[in-house]
Amino acid sequence: MADHWTLENMPDQTGKVVIVTGATHGLGYEVAKGFAAKNATLILAVRNMTLGQERIAEFCQINPNGRFEVMSLQLDDLTSVRQFAEEFQRKYQRLDILVNNAGIMAVPFGKTKDGFEMHIGVNYLGHFALTGLLLPLIKQTPGARVIAVASEAEKYGNIESLLADFDYEKRYERWMAYGHSKLAQLMFAYELNRRFQQHGYQAQAMGAHPGFARTNLRVSVMPTERNLFHRYLNAFFELISQRQELGALPLLYAAAAPEAQGGEYYGVSRFQMWGYPAKNRSSRRSHDEQVAKRLWEKSEAVTGVRFAF
Ligand SMILES: NC(=O)c1ccc[n+]([C@@H]2O[C@H](COP(=O)([O-])OP(=O)(O)OC[C@H]3O[C@@H](n4cnc5c(N)ncnc54)[C@H](OP(=O)(O)O)[C@@H]3O)[C@@H](O)[C@H]2O)c1
Repeated sequence: MADHWTLENMPDQTGKVVIVTGATHGLGYEVAKGFAAKNATLILAVRNMTLGQERIAEFCQINPNGRFEVMSLQLDDLTSVRQFAEEFQRKYQRLDILVNNAGIMAVPFGKTKDGFEMHIGVNYLGHFALTGLLLPLIKQTPGARVIAVASEAEKYGNIESLLADFDYEKRYERWMAYGHSKLAQLMFAYELNRRFQQHGYQAQAMGAHPGFARTNLRVSVMPTERNLFHRYLNAFFELISQRQELGALPLLYAAAAPEAQGGEYYGVSRFQMWGYPAKNRSSRRSHDEQVAKRLWEKSEAVTGVRFAF
């Protein structure tokens, strides 16, 4: 890996079909912009179609010859996920790169349309279902990649605890819920990669994280922070976080660098918080294959999406 891997190092993506979820703001927007500049056929999978169209107009300025499309995807609603996957498969015959990026962080307790706790529903189960429904295309596209946008918060996630109280009937703590969802996303990527290998597919799945990036994610937490300590902590995070353009680079690296490998975790070079893309180490828990299998079974059961390998 180059010491300072940037967009300059990213190969041209002509002919590749790329989906980025949550492409209207933050890291997803930057990742989409990178692919737009590199000539990919880019699908912005977004919850706000008007904003999605505005983003496409921006990308057309960057690359007038680019092929861009915006499609509606509400990750808190599995009906929307199914509709997205059906429509996508009607329109496209391949899927080279799926960047499972959209996310929420530390929101108050709430439920998705299907009755899942919001973090696990949006960050993890929505992407799990999306990937499973798009598997036929992923399988038939040589060298396809699935990227889980995880977080250092995976380190305080615990899937055993999650599985023991999946509906949060006993206790809800929003940062813990975020940690669980990010660990779940990462374990899903590792397990998916193992299953690709077991079935002899060329496809790869890997995790990526941006370090601390200045995006809307933390802003959305601020109004709910009544605790003074948390308020100072957030202000401090605001100061020490890096630009979202930089935070997006590890995601782009995982998605597009020829040397990136399935089953790896790509983050940033300095203390897993800042800097340019680097191979990072995820928690020991994230590599627990038994727990990953249990999580997978649970996820198939609750979403009704079975992966047809
Ligand atoms: N920023 C960081 O420091 C950091 C660190 C570690 C990991 N991450 C991860 O990076 C990913 C992107 O976050 P970000 O920092 O770029 O935050 P962001 O600026 O808030 O962007 C989040 C994106 O997700 C979309 N989204 C949220 N809920 C959705 C839903 N129900 N259905 C469809 N799309 C939805 C948002 O749509 P709208 O544009 O319509 O709001 C937005 O485009 C997240 O998975 C997050 O966990 C971020």
